[in-house]
Amino acid sequence: MTDSWATFGADLHLDLTAGRGLRAGLTEALREAARSGRLAPGTRLPSSRSLAADLGVARNTVAEAYAELVAEGWLTARQGSGTRVAERARPRRPGAPAPVRRPVRRGPAYSLVPGSPDLGAFPRAAWLSAARRALTDAPNDAFGYAEEARGRIELREALAGYLTRARGVYADPGRIVLCAGFLHGLTLLAGVLRARKVREVAVEGYGLHFHRDLLTRAGLRTRPLGVDGEGARTGELTAGPGAVLLTPAHQFPTGAALAPARRAAVVDWARSTGGLVLEDDYDGEFRYDQQAVGALQGLDPERVVYLGTASKSLAPGLRIGWMVVPPGMVDEVLAVKGATDWTSSALEQLTLAAFITSGAYDRHVRGMRLRYRRRRDDLVAAVGDRVAVSGIAAGLHAVLDLPGGTERSVVQSAAWQDLAVHGLSAFRHPQAELAPRDALVVGYGTPSDSAWSPTLAALAAALP
Ligand SMILES: Cc1ncc(COP(=O)(O)O)c(C=O)c1O
Repeated sequence: MTDSWATFGADLHLDLTAGRGLRAGLTEALREAARSGRLAPGTRLPSSRSLAADLGVARNTVAEAYAELVAEGWLTARQGSGTRVAERARPRRPGAPAPVRRPVRRGPAYSLVPGSPDLGAFPRAAWLSAARRALTDAPNDAFGYAEEARGRIELREALAGYLTRARGVYADPGRIVLCAGFLHGLTLLAGVLRARKVREVAVEGYGLHFHRDLLTRAGLRTRPLGVDGEGARTGELTAGPGAVLLTPAHQFPTGAALAPARRAAVVDWARSTGGLVLEDDYDGEFRYDQQAVGALQGLDPERVVYLGTASKSLAPGLRIGWMVVPPGMVDEVLAVKGATDWTSSALEQLTLAAFITSGAYDRHVRGMRLRYRRRRDDLVAAVGDRVAVSGIAAGLHAVLDLPGGTERSVVQSAAWQDLAVHGLSAFRHPQAELAPRDALVVGYGTPSDSAWSPTLAALAAALP
């Protein structure tokens, strides 16, 4: 093991003046030092305080760079043995060609990062029998280039029945367009909005930055709405944006359900301005305290585009999503999507169709609902006496409110417990006017069953 940190800054030629943010520059410099072997695996790094003093930067800058590299697997952080270069971060031999594949990264041992279902609970056997049935029954044309750009009719018919029954969506197969997950659907809709000369989309002040980035890359400005205990503040909508992107059933990430008056207000806004509502129903099947509230699209199928995905109910790796679009918009969506469906596999679509029509989808969702509900109950039992667990009892994540000013240090102390977890501020739109709030967004769906108890213990140990 190398313990050479006394000359750390000088030896590593950390260059923080390359025109990037200090934190980003330091993170990249350390990552490159670990990748190239200048920092050998096992090397103990200086404390954030002494490296900060060495480099003349704020201690938080160093602490955040360390936390990021721990999350990526380049460094490890353990109480008592400090922050070290991970054993897996093996250097390249001098002169050896750069590896083509990205380095294997060991992430933290535990993760409560939201966004993933329990991948260990994927219904392999039921999926396999649906796949066998789909393959046996598939007509020959399923193996060719798909001529129907909306996607396979078998899946669109199965979804139309399911969405009407389970989510109160007005859905007929002719208005369903299949896509490779929500992100692909949003990409297609961004193209439609641009073709309509829309310049701005209202979004929730807390949300996923990669959804906002996708809109920005498509040439659309995003305008944040406030978010509170009743969901997005739809009263802030003006005539400016041509569309609004919402998570009405379960605001991501704050966990509020959009209040009935606000649901009505957003539909009124769409009618009076000609705007479009994009409804992201990513986890609408999972409600634990009462019957799930039906989709907003049911209030006005002419003004609301409904977007669903298999990413939470089954697995994100499937890359299957669906949109129910107003009748007059189907051709516009297909103009962007292209003349054939080349984005998702016909066999996966047929398998999902067989999975739904056989009743296996309902059974799986019911089983997962119980599992996630238990997880949420465990979470409340483990930490509810120390922090407030907010958001409705739904979905795969909850928000833990923290004492003011402690979010960053709790995320850091979670890293010390080998636990990856995100603070609420990571989801904040940079221009959002939101009251300061320190919180953790805890994805209790993410761990496998076997990892659940130690993950919860690591979280409890990280809390103030
Ligand atoms: C708010 C939200 N919308 C949608 C999705 C689903 O995205 P996709 O279908 O592209 O996997 C996620 C998944 O993390 C999400 O958190």
